[in-house]
Amino acid sequence: MARQKDLISPSILSADFARLGEEVDNVLKSGADIVHFDVMDNHYVPNLTIGPLVCEALRKHGVTADIDVHLMVKPVDRIIPDFANAGASYITFHPESSEHVDRSLQLIRDHGCKSGLVFNPATPLDVLDYVMDKVDMILLMSVNPGFGGQSFIPGTLNKLRQARKRIDESGLDIRLEIDGGVKVDNIAEIKAAGADTFVAGSAIFGAANKQDPNHYDSVLRAFREQLAS
Ligand code: DX5
Ligand code: ZN
Repeated sequence: MARQKDLISPSILSADFARLGEEVDNVLKSGADIVHFDVMDNHYVPNLTIGPLVCEALRKHGVTADIDVHLMVKPVDRIIPDFANAGASYITFHPESSEHVDRSLQLIRDHGCKSGLVFNPATPLDVLDYVMDKVDMILLMSVNPGFGGQSFIPGTLNKLRQARKRIDESGLDIRLEIDGGVKVDNIAEIKAAGADTFVAGSAIFGAANKQDPNHYDSVLRAFREQLAS
């Protein structure tokens, strides 16, 4: 299976929530591909963010790009249909947050969304031995989940190579996403290790001078140049 097109997925965790619709419009206009939507519950992770109402609000605002919902909540099954109805495109969750991983993956697909599993830095990939045919996305955390602005954990590069090998050997159409500490100066080596979908929060939303109407253009261009290098 040929490698999929690289996708840049800005994490709105670092956006200005008071102007969220405009922030998402601007980052997509500047060349982002999809929208990374971090859901935290102050239980599975020590932070609290946004839920299905905000996802639905972005759809009503007119956002048509894929919305990549990253659930950091426990449990997940109750909230999956709500996100599907709110317009989620991808729904990913951590295997530790569901008692029945296979069932939760199936639930996501039954609701018409693409499904995915997220692996914390210390979580092994073994569960994939049994559910590879039920995932559309594998997301490797390169920081411990809960906060934006942390540093990339270098050992994730090796884990990316392992995940890439699993995907290539399976012959399945599965995206390999990376989340945490992705910057202009490390995205090329992250791609070389096998990722094809790149989440970046603080590197995109933190970089810009928001007085400039095209403020996300230069950082998105810098990411693209690195990906092409
Ligand atoms: C962390 C979130 C990330 C976060 C990444 O738990 O899953 O998506 O927004 O932020 P940066 O890119 O700043 O590390
Ligand atoms: Zn995330």
